[in-house]
Amino acid sequence: MEKKTRIGNTDLYVNPIGLGTNAVGGHNLFPSLDEAAGRELVLTGLENGINFLDTAFIYGPKRSEEIIGEVLKERGNRSEVVIATKAAHKYVGEEIVLDNSPAFLTQAVDESLKRLQTDYIDLFYIHFPDANTPKDEAVGALKQLKDKGKIRSIGVSNFTLDQLKEANKDGYVDVVQGEYNLISRDAEKEFFPYALNQHISFIPYFPLAKGILTGKYQLDSDLTGRRGKFFEKPLYEQTLEKVEHLRNIAASKGIEIAHLVLAWYLTREAVDVIIPGAKNATQVLHNLKTLDVQLTADEIEAIDVIFR
Ligand SMILES: NC(=O)c1ccc[n+]([C@@H]2O[C@H](COP(=O)([O-])OP(=O)(O)OC[C@H]3O[C@@H](n4cnc5c(N)ncnc54)[C@H](OP(=O)(O)O)[C@@H]3O)[C@@H](O)[C@H]2O)c1
Repeated sequence: MEKKTRIGNTDLYVNPIGLGTNAVGGHNLFPSLDEAAGRELVLTGLENGINFLDTAFIYGPKRSEEIIGEVLKERGNRSEVVIATKAAHKYVGEEIVLDNSPAFLTQAVDESLKRLQTDYIDLFYIHFPDANTPKDEAVGALKQLKDKGKIRSIGVSNFTLDQLKEANKDGYVDVVQGEYNLISRDAEKEFFPYALNQHISFIPYFPLAKGILTGKYQLDSDLTGRRGKFFEKPLYEQTLEKVEHLRNIAASKGIEIAHLVLAWYLTREAVDVIIPGAKNATQVLHNLKTLDVQLTADEIEAIDVIFR
């Protein structure tokens, strides 16, 4: 159970099943979110072997970082947990703009440190590219924060490949986070070759396509309140059809679809760790069972073919 994997070339070693926390206090993303459930799911994850938490300023905004800070403070084992957070969103009055300027990122790190109640952040990402800041300059500012010990590694997210290359001009980027799941596989061609070549770890978001890849939806499921492209026709129907093929493979192994899907990502060479999100502690415990799954080469290939 206690399997630790290294994230790229960093000195961060984590359980390959991490935890995405945009639904922990992420009131701006999920209406009627239960904050107590968020707190409990973080705690449950940490008590059951998860040691990698993925958060961001914009989840809440601020509440996800704050809740994680409170849970870590209460537990008192900060050094055992690897915290990743992100920034780029800046409030200008009521409006949110993207800012990658060195001054803004430096201020954002300090503010995240306060909310997380810690004196270092293990992995700090530029969450989204802005229009103006040269990306190597933005990452250069993070390198200075790394040298000061405020952050331990540097990530970028939602960058194009060209932006990533510019950001990594001096070789400072440790992690790239982008959308990747069985339905959206562009990253395999766009990012994996460069990431592997540069020893940059690729961390996928939406690994469960917001729950659809767990197999819990049917054609007649009530989708009220479900937002995003995965729930739109015809993609929704097409995905459900493919998920039925996964159901057969999962049944033949005596496991569940979510475990099959999550285990498959960990067979990708560019992927060291995954960060499935969760709305409650039960889902966190369920996703952790992925660690017990071994896929054969034939099964890996079969899943690949279903979603090719
Ligand atoms: N860098 C970025 O721009 C970016 C963008 C998006 C996400 N992220 C990060 O990536 C993480 C993962 O993405 P995500 O959480 O949006 O999507 P996801 O991991 O694809 O889906 C998570 C959702 O699936 C459902 N679920 C999870 N485990 C389940 C289980 N075992 N059984 C049934 N349903 C289950 C839950 O929603 P329901 O219970 O409502 O079905 C949960 O909220 C986020 O938490 C966040 O940290 C980053």
